[in-house]
Amino acid sequence: MPHAAQHPSRQPQFVQVYHEDQEALRHELTLGLLEPQAHCSPKFLYDALGSRLFEAITELPEYYPTRTEATIFKSHGSAMAQAVPRGATLIDLGAGNCQKASSLFDRFQPQRYVAVDISVDFLRDALECLQRQHPTLEMWGLGVDFSSGLQLPPPIDDLAQGPRLLFYPGSSIGNFTPDQALAFLRTVHAACGLQAGSGLLIGVDLAKDTGVLEAAYDDALGVTAAFNLNLLLHLNRLLQADFRLEDWRHLARYDTVLQRIEMHLQARRSLTVRWRDDQGSARERRFMAGQSLHTENSYKWTIAGFSTLLQQAGFRDPQHWTDDAQRFAVFWAAVSRPSTNGPRF
Ligand SMILES: C[S@@+](CC[C@H](N)C(=O)[O-])C[C@H]1O[C@@H](n2cnc3c(N)ncnc32)[C@H](O)[C@@H]1O
Repeated sequence: MPHAAQHPSRQPQFVQVYHEDQEALRHELTLGLLEPQAHCSPKFLYDALGSRLFEAITELPEYYPTRTEATIFKSHGSAMAQAVPRGATLIDLGAGNCQKASSLFDRFQPQRYVAVDISVDFLRDALECLQRQHPTLEMWGLGVDFSSGLQLPPPIDDLAQGPRLLFYPGSSIGNFTPDQALAFLRTVHAACGLQAGSGLLIGVDLAKDTGVLEAAYDDALGVTAAFNLNLLLHLNRLLQADFRLEDWRHLARYDTVLQRIEMHLQARRSLTVRWRDDQGSARERRFMAGQSLHTENSYKWTIAGFSTLLQQAGFRDPQHWTDDAQRFAVFWAAVSRPSTNGPRF
């Protein structure tokens, strides 16, 4: 690897596949708002402010996932470093502020770092800052919406011929229903390529006591409430809608049957929301007091259930590490066993 001094002004490179397609977004949102149970994708939680609010959530005492996952990386980092490929292209899915992946650079020694996120401006700032801290590491930013699949665009796909380490921490996989999670993991498996030793390192939140879960998604300070409500401001911009924050309350509840936290925005009074659809036509939806807009699911898994899911997606021999209280787990699953006598098979 070259010395830092040889790259005094190295810049991360960016490939932006995701461009906000206003028409498609308005179409998607209109369909969801008009369903009997109004809903929208959790990706709309992450505009620039939403990404910053999420950062604040990870600091909250009630929000155990980030802290617990960090403990697992700390306690089991050397075992993980033995399992994952060295000198890999580290591909960070939903990278956010890139802090989690960068805390593993020393242990995992990646050859290059690819940060993937839909919140492109936030990612750009985070990656430029990270590049200054790690001037010798080749860095790429990839602005993409991976909810409909994950395909690495040619410059990155062509460059990443060696082993690939896909990284999906923070239990973001929990935003998908189990069927969607399986479909997504299959696309991640494909994105790992065929190089022996490539695979996925993924953080997964585990099923647990309802009180602990609900507090994590409805903190006393109201940061998660602000994060959820900010989605309405985002929708107002995208749809020229007239959501008023004071008419809505944040709600988080655990469904013990479906094993998922549901986040909703609940109407405080009967009201009508108006917006413009993809054709520019006026639309409206009446919400009775107590009716809601469903904004996020966060499924909780068991160790056995998630191991099976990884195998159904095509991964082999999943291993996992947990914290003492078994609140959270980090899984490593390879696409194939490492080969000792050649990079390709
Ligand atoms: C819960 S945050 C996790 C951030 C960080 N990886 C962590 O674990 O702390 C989810 C991240 O995924 C990104 N994201 C959400 N939906 C996405 C999508 N459909 N495509 C790409 N990125 C997405 C968000 O912008 C956000 O940065």
